[in-house]
Amino acid sequence: MTTMTTLREQLWSDLDVEATLDAPIGALTWYEAGGRAEVLILPRTIESLQVLCRRCCEQGIAVRTLGSGANLIVDDAGVNGVVVRLSRGAFQATAWPQETAGGLAHIGAGADLMSLVQESARRGLAGLSQLAGIPASLGGAVRMNAGGSFGDTAQSIHTIELLTPVGEICIIPKVDLGFAYRTCNLPAGIVLAATVALAATDPVKVRAHVKEVFEYKSRTQPMSDRSAGCMFKNPIDPSTGQRQSAGRLIDLAGMKGTTLRSAFVSERHGNFIGLHAGGSTNDVLALALAVQQRVLDHAGIRLEREVVVWSQRGEDS
Ligand code: EPU
Repeated sequence: MTTMTTLREQLWSDLDVEATLDAPIGALTWYEAGGRAEVLILPRTIESLQVLCRRCCEQGIAVRTLGSGANLIVDDAGVNGVVVRLSRGAFQATAWPQETAGGLAHIGAGADLMSLVQESARRGLAGLSQLAGIPASLGGAVRMNAGGSFGDTAQSIHTIELLTPVGEICIIPKVDLGFAYRTCNLPAGIVLAATVALAATDPVKVRAHVKEVFEYKSRTQPMSDRSAGCMFKNPIDPSTGQRQSAGRLIDLAGMKGTTLRSAFVSERHGNFIGLHAGGSTNDVLALALAVQQRVLDHAGIRLEREVVVWSQRGEDS
């Protein structure tokens, strides 16, 4: 921690940011558990973020971006380096299309996806309703290509604006982003904003679709548990070439309701690992490993984790 304390003058003291040393970032995730970051920085302007990234790059300091923390586990030991959160100023701004026929919305990466879905429905703009009920920041949703059986983020995106690690801004069209199931090949850097294609339609229809997607999630998923959504990606079934539900495989392997200290496999949906209040993310990770092993033994399928883990042990995964 001393490194960051001594570096802070050079890194951010002259920038338009809010900074917290030894910040409890685990508490900001949907698990409300996990460790701290050496420093959490909330930039208020793009320029200050640009300069910060450039300086961190020069000093070899890792920069991570925290979205809404909905698909993230922070290891109990926390992380070194800088964590940036785009929860201030320009990063939250949304410019909706002016044309009555729809068009492109320009949305800051820190904007809340659930609010965007609601507001687009209110305006009678179709293009985001497939993402109803998915907790995410827009930037996080792009990086993970968040979605479900009703659709994904990729289908809404037109372009993204990316801040490279050396502080340059580039605009990348969707075609160059290599979107695929729960992933994309975004270059290193921080998503600043995205343009999203929206079509004007009957507001009643958009709202009905949002309601349908949301009700399906509420019925089938433990939405009030502390969790990070689906822990594993749906694997491809070799016999059909189609993805199959990891939750169903976990269910068939008899793991629903299994507990490991403070963590438990949801009774409602097998792919959700919940955590009791005051629990430890190490318990979640240990239970995820046990689930993975059981499904491998039972079905011969190795599940791949969807949830991102930040830790001091090597690369994030
Ligand atoms: N099923 C079971 N047992 C379970 C869970 C599911 O038998 O414990 C069965 C269901 O009855 C259904 C089938 O499996 O017949 C598919 O279930 P579901 O509709 O819940 O879909 P999923 O494939 O398990 C995916 C996404 C979810 C998304 C839902 C609905 C992944 C890994 N999961 O789940 O996304 O909300 O579709 O759109 O792609 C997430 O990414 O965090 C997430 C939760």
